[in-house]
Amino acid sequence: MQGAIFFTSKYGSTADYAGWIGEATGLPVFDVAQSTGDPADYDFLVVGSPIMHYRPSIRRWLRANADHVRSKPTILFTVSGAGAGLKLDGWLADSLPNSLLSHVEHVALRGRWRREQLGLWHRITLLMAAMVNRDPQARKDELEGFDYVDRDSIAPIVERVRELQAAPVGG
Ligand SMILES: Cc1cc2nc3c(=O)[nH]c(=O)nc-3n(C[C@H](O)[C@H](O)[C@H](O)COP(=O)(O)O)c2cc1C
Repeated sequence: MQGAIFFTSKYGSTADYAGWIGEATGLPVFDVAQSTGDPADYDFLVVGSPIMHYRPSIRRWLRANADHVRSKPTILFTVSGAGAGLKLDGWLADSLPNSLLSHVEHVALRGRWRREQLGLWHRITLLMAAMVNRDPQARKDELEGFDYVDRDSIAPIVERVRELQAAPVGG
């Protein structure tokens, strides 16, 4: 089967992961902000999104392309400060319809941001989030930034893509 990667990224880490997955698998990579690439042209999809303010940034694109997502194997990789777990699962459940979420294979990757990259609004919103965060490590991350990007963490996605590439169309 033929697949493609669709992603959005604000500070570059999701773009890095999308590029690395593209390099490892040969899949074409499309930034949804540029409106190139049509999911209708592919048999399976890899969708990459940062988590910003407890929501996946790509949620509007997912809703707009819900028919394609529901009818094709879809891997959703999220990129966030939080690692895989109940907190992240809860944010996704609150942001996406269950009919989409139950269909996608979700892989949680971890991202980065640096204070000097941020605009004033994001600095303020992260400061406000830190003030009410009871998790000391998450609060530190919200105040100081972090870099949890790990190129090797794409391995499960690459493996799954290769399985899908080897599968017959409609099989
Ligand atoms: C303004 C802002 C809000 C964020 N909100 C969250 C959040 O709610 N939960 C989380 O786990 N990480 C959060 N993060 C961390 C991002 O998910 C992380 O920096 C990610 O790597 C950004 O992806 P990008 O580099 O592709 O834009 C936030 C980062 C910023 C700058």
